[in-house]
Amino acid sequence: MTDSIATATPPSTDIGHDRLRRAMARGAAFLGSDHAIMAGAMSWVSERNLVAAMSNAGGFGVIACGAMTPELLDSEIAATKALTDKPFGVNLITMHPALDALIEVCGRHGVGHVVLAGGLPPKGSLEAIKAGGAKVICFAPTLALAKKLIRSGVDALVIEGMEAGGHIGPVSTSVLAQEMLPTIAADVPVFVAGGIGRGEAVAGYLEMGAAGVQLGTRFVCATESIAHPNFKKAFIRASARDAVASVQIDPRLPVIPVRALKNAGQDAFATKQREVAQKLDDTALALAEAQLEIEHYWAGALRRAVIDGDVEHGSVMAGQSVGMVTREEPVATIIESLMDEAASALERRAG
Ligand SMILES: Cc1cc2nc3c(=O)[nH]c(=O)nc-3n(C[C@H](O)[C@H](O)[C@H](O)COP(=O)(O)O)c2cc1C
Repeated sequence: MTDSIATATPPSTDIGHDRLRRAMARGAAFLGSDHAIMAGAMSWVSERNLVAAMSNAGGFGVIACGAMTPELLDSEIAATKALTDKPFGVNLITMHPALDALIEVCGRHGVGHVVLAGGLPPKGSLEAIKAGGAKVICFAPTLALAKKLIRSGVDALVIEGMEAGGHIGPVSTSVLAQEMLPTIAADVPVFVAGGIGRGEAVAGYLEMGAAGVQLGTRFVCATESIAHPNFKKAFIRASARDAVASVQIDPRLPVIPVRALKNAGQDAFATKQREVAQKLDDTALALAEAQLEIEHYWAGALRRAVIDGDVEHGSVMAGQSVGMVTREEPVATIIESLMDEAASALERRAG
């Protein structure tokens, strides 16, 4: 946040914070945290340090399991528990080949909340998570799927718009919120994600019926985040229009769009798609092999940027709110700003 924006927020008072506490009560009770603010899991970024810092600051941290093996997840959960006694969650990707074993690890550690990402939950996974004692949070891409997920017994939903960093759907957060909150917010707690950079937006979604919010981009440059200094610098320099969605070049080769900062890696990805499409034309590759080549291309790209600091050729996943990230600061300070901005917004709106 720039100084000029920060000073534009009138100081929040007890009245504003009271209203905010009430507006967040359902989400906070569901998460077991002080505030209904989740730090969305970010592969390589959301590890023990950021997750524990988030939960210690009164928010809710979520470990990104990504491609971790069950053994690695086991030690990451143990290491996070050593840094916080507050609740935190684990994000599992539905297509992970060892999903059952990962669910078992969460159950063994008594993880309270499992977030399932990357598609609809495979058969039996909801039951297995619940049998391990955890609550299940899923992403709902459409209203019809949200209703279906609620019928199948999910405990909470995240609706995430295309402003977000990482893999994205086609619809904006503001439209998803208007379409879904009036219909489903009474059934389960709904957390809104994508493009949230300031507390005024948090207040807005709470007023619309959200139980809480999930932010990713805003927490990447937290002091406690282990992201490489180059990765953080790229965030601090970038503006909203630098965070662009990857483009699919050939209709035969589906690409799930990823929002990331423009760089040489994104251009090279387009070239790669053209090369693979050419091989398809020349029948040098079968369709399944071609798709695999496309998917493997990005494997490791995020790690290359987050851990190795190669922000030119790696994937610098970032949401459009990246323009509101202007400095490195502790998680607790980021949460405090969001809460103050939200509280004063609620107070102003109530007159
Ligand atoms: C660098 C980065 C990595 C991400 N990795 C994951 C991931 O592994 N799994 C996931 O479910 N979401 C992932 N996301 C999405 C976040 O969890 C979160 O939902 C999103 O960042 C919220 O939108 P915002 O970026 O506009 O705040 C990632 C986002 C970013 C910026």
